[in-house]
Amino acid sequence: VPGKGLPGPVWMSQYACQRPTPLTHHNPSLTEPLEMLAEAASFEGSEGRFLSFRRAASVLKALPSQVTALSQLQGLPYFGEHSYRVVQLFTGIFGVGVTTADRWYREGLRTLDSLQEQPQRLTQQQKAGLRHYQDLSAPVQRSDVEALQQVVEEAVGCILPGATVTLAGGFRRGKLQGHDMDFLITHPQEGREAGLLPRVMHSLESQGLVLYHQYHHGHRADATHLSCHNHAMGGFEMTFCIFCLPAPPGTAVGGTQRAVRADLVVVPISQFPYALLGWTGSKHFQRELRRFSRKERGLWLNSHGLFDPQQVRCCPLPCSLEMSCAGPHLPTGTNADAP
Ligand code: TTP
Ligand code: MN
Ligand code: MN
Ligand code: MN
Repeated sequence: VPGKGLPGPVWMSQYACQRPTPLTHHNPSLTEPLEMLAEAASFEGSEGRFLSFRRAASVLKALPSQVTALSQLQGLPYFGEHSYRVVQLFTGIFGVGVTTADRWYREGLRTLDSLQEQPQRLTQQQKAGLRHYQDLSAPVQRSDVEALQQVVEEAVGCILPGATVTLAGGFRRGKLQGHDMDFLITHPQEGREAGLLPRVMHSLESQGLVLYHQYHHGHRADATHLSCHNHAMGGFEMTFCIFCLPAPPGTAVGGTQRAVRADLVVVPISQFPYALLGWTGSKHFQRELRRFSRKERGLWLNSHGLFDPQQVRCCPLPCSLEMSCAGPHLPTGTNADAP
């Protein structure tokens, strides 16, 4: 209400059947992620969390105006103060993990607006994540994957003929939707892939497709007990990106453009099977596979290779020095690329 500050709390029956719930309402940017969380909870078999999310979304649909401050939720059924909801909201931002989300919560932050007002708290990655929050909270579809793979393949093929682009991640596991797309780039001749990523990104940027990207020298997911050997192997060149794609036809924003997340990783061909295995996920499957390798076979697996620790010298300090470690070692009969 202009001039009167924000609209105050509203009384509402706790029963959805006792209140009007219009099809077109004021809070789709909140109800859509809540319904996604509900769906995810139901897939995981958590009926309790499914109902909580579903009920909260339903309450928001019945509100007479858009929610812009947490105070407006006070007293509403299913909106008790709970860090879980806020942590979920914050971890939905690209570049924000549970640790950061939890710290922000403990520091009193509750809403995306409150973050927006404190840009000094945010990394460039998180700023981009916040800027594209709504687009990135919608799942990536197969049609997005095909569209992006095509432009990436064209750019890669122009710069380094013979280089290949392989889809990994959840889509390679057969998922129909994902939070991002993961592409591995390699070339059949070892070493030819060196320096490829900046040139590919430059080409995609010049086509106006890149909303954000940041290079990483990757060993994040591998940085377990094997970190010093990863360093010896050298990390992959990778970049965590936000691309601008035409929205899939038939969606609410069909015909316009929207932001989607993608990871591009450049891999030397000698490590490609291990990279493909590692980047196909799931995170849990990979963690278990590595645990199995270590405990049951005495071999160390990561997305660079499969190592026999008997043949690998662990590097002394400093770890950043390139050490001469044994290369990937494949026992006969092992199919390292089994999905
Ligand atoms: P994700 O893209 O995070 O997950 P996903 O593709 O399984 O699911 P989603 O549909 O939500 O995108 O990661 C895919 C795999 O890549 C995962 O098993 C971990 C691996 N990975 C690395 O090996 N190194 C890294 O630095 C990152 C970010 C991921
Ligand atoms: Mn993915
Ligand atoms: Mn990814
Ligand atoms: Mn490294």
